[in-house]
Amino acid sequence: MKPSRFEDALVCINGVFVPPEEAMVSIFDRGFLYGDSVYEVTLTYQGLPFLLDTHLARLKNSANGIGMDLPWSDEELTKLIYQGLQRVDRPRQYVRIIVTRGGGEIGLDPALSDGQNLFIIFRELPLQPKKYYEKGVSLITAEIIRNPKRAVDPNVKSGNYLNNVLAISQAKEKGAYDALMLNAKGNVTESTTANIWIVEDGVFKTPPLEAGLLGGITRATLLDLGEKHGLKMKEEDLSPHQVRSAQEAFITSSTREVMPVTSVDGQVIGNGLPGPLTQKLHDHYRAYVEQVISEEKKKASKYLD
Ligand SMILES: Cc1ncc(COP(=O)(O)O)c(C=O)c1O
Repeated sequence: MKPSRFEDALVCINGVFVPPEEAMVSIFDRGFLYGDSVYEVTLTYQGLPFLLDTHLARLKNSANGIGMDLPWSDEELTKLIYQGLQRVDRPRQYVRIIVTRGGGEIGLDPALSDGQNLFIIFRELPLQPKKYYEKGVSLITAEIIRNPKRAVDPNVKSGNYLNNVLAISQAKEKGAYDALMLNAKGNVTESTTANIWIVEDGVFKTPPLEAGLLGGITRATLLDLGEKHGLKMKEEDLSPHQVRSAQEAFITSSTREVMPVTSVDGQVIGNGLPGPLTQKLHDHYRAYVEQVISEEKKKASKYLD
């Protein structure tokens, strides 16, 4: 193995905390062999996990989506995550929870597994470069499509990200930040690791889950927040043309929040600058983060030593 470039990381494997250079996974693990795994990514603000309960609920949903049980309760997972956070003690932390179907005799049959494995990776999460928010980012439309719901449902956050890996490499080849992925009907689903939104006629629009995409936690939060603040929010199938000719566009994910998109396939969005409605929604999101974290502070004493 190459020497670790991850000195800042801490890893928890099946409840045991190890430094990154000791964090090894068996080559017989089904996550490694088949991508037979599910995962979550969240982050901390002021050292406290953000919407952890919601992420754990999605983890369970993803596991159920591939017929796998989680042998750990939310309470056990939360305790482990708090223990890890206390050990690293950094304000802005990336937390990745991975559950694989485990190891066993080589073969596709899940019954060959001898029990799930749990990995939690804690890493420092640098702030996103400011220029992405000030100038916006560029997207291309990938040639490779998102899985249909009847393949591995994209709403399952599984270890099978190869379509998305190929899509982002197309984006990078073309000098873009990320790629939009279409479904088999040619409608837009999402980007490789974020949900896509546009503003059209003053309405915030994002594709529905039926289009075949991950139900992003940021996406759901924004749909709710927008409604509460009297903004017009709509889940609607979007064509690539609609995205390219939108007034405003942005992508959303836990670690990026609301990131403006100012060009798609080389076509400028709006006036080429991040839009005012995008900014407004982001401001509401930031205020919501503050509120959630101040509530988390009250809950945290239960888990902190
Ligand atoms: C494919 C995909 N879509 C959307 C998202 C955004 O999800 P969330 O807002 O829950 O971070 C992610 C997050 O990693 C993702 O991998």
